[in-house]
Amino acid sequence: MISYLAHLPNADRKTVEKIHQQKQAWINQPKKGFLRYRDPWEGVKHLRTGTLELQADVVKIGRREDISPEDHQRVYALMRNFMPWRKGPFSVFDIDIDAEWQSQLKWNRLLPEIPNMKGKVIADIGCNNGYYMFRMAAHQPKFVLGFEPYVQHYFTFSALRSFAGLDNLAIDLLGIENLPLFPDCFDIIFCLGILYHRPSPIEALRDLQTALKPDGCLLIESQAIKNEQPLALFPEKTYAKVPGTWFVPTASCLHNWLARAGFKQIKCFCTHPMSSTEQRRTDWMTFESYQDFIDKNDPELTIEGYPAPWRVFFKAKK
Ligand SMILES: C[S@@+](CC[C@H](N)C(=O)[O-])C[C@H]1O[C@@H](n2cnc3c(N)ncnc32)[C@H](O)[C@@H]1O
Repeated sequence: MISYLAHLPNADRKTVEKIHQQKQAWINQPKKGFLRYRDPWEGVKHLRTGTLELQADVVKIGRREDISPEDHQRVYALMRNFMPWRKGPFSVFDIDIDAEWQSQLKWNRLLPEIPNMKGKVIADIGCNNGYYMFRMAAHQPKFVLGFEPYVQHYFTFSALRSFAGLDNLAIDLLGIENLPLFPDCFDIIFCLGILYHRPSPIEALRDLQTALKPDGCLLIESQAIKNEQPLALFPEKTYAKVPGTWFVPTASCLHNWLARAGFKQIKCFCTHPMSSTEQRRTDWMTFESYQDFIDKNDPELTIEGYPAPWRVFFKAKK
């Protein structure tokens, strides 16, 4: 049995196990794209550290002196193989990883609204490399499951978690669309930066609701446009150069979606414009970033001429 299922007694075990086995067989193929992460990880899989700092902006896992200089070189090479780093910052055995997103800013906006996490069963949907899961770990949750279908992020999280030796964090190659397999399973669900990537946001919200325990709490954050009306922008192809963007709602539109999906006690607790301070190119993410996505002559517009992105944060109960 997959060990994390012990925390999720209502899950559809058979189907989850079947998907898990299929995905594991898939990533264990000798394909170049998988070996790039898997092979260098094998060489450092045994490394553990007792030095963790999860309360501060930088997630610190280990110090340089915890491991040999040879292992340190190997860890550095592995961390570089995990590029581009989208979420962070991290310090891994004193290797400073400045990611594209200053994810501590989002975490600090969420923190005052998050219910007590101690002893709770939590899901992080689209967890990426697990930056927020490590921040959650500081609050002693019973267990956190990250849903993340992308192999690069799966391996990055798996390496970081294994160095940190945190047994109450786990990841699986699952997507938000797999949530119906987890009815009444989670006390708290984080769904950050996902909704505008879904072709059917209402279906996604209903699936989130299904997966919450009765009285469970959703923390949701989305890209948005600024407008008082309950509208959603539907881009022709890309939005701020990002393909796979479907509906970009206003705050009042997302409020209505949540209400009509059946959520209660809906509260919008933060809205802010995006900025090139929060999302930018670094040595660990060398591709285009926010400033390349925005009209050079008018920061109120995306490169496609749409209203520039804001972010909105909601809390809601099942
Ligand atoms: C914009 S990032 C947001 C990451 C993080 N939650 C945050 O807010 O910083 C979207 C994440 O969702 C993941 N993702 C892609 N398809 C997904 C799906 N079907 N279900 C859940 N996550 C998905 C991506 O790999 C990526 O890590």
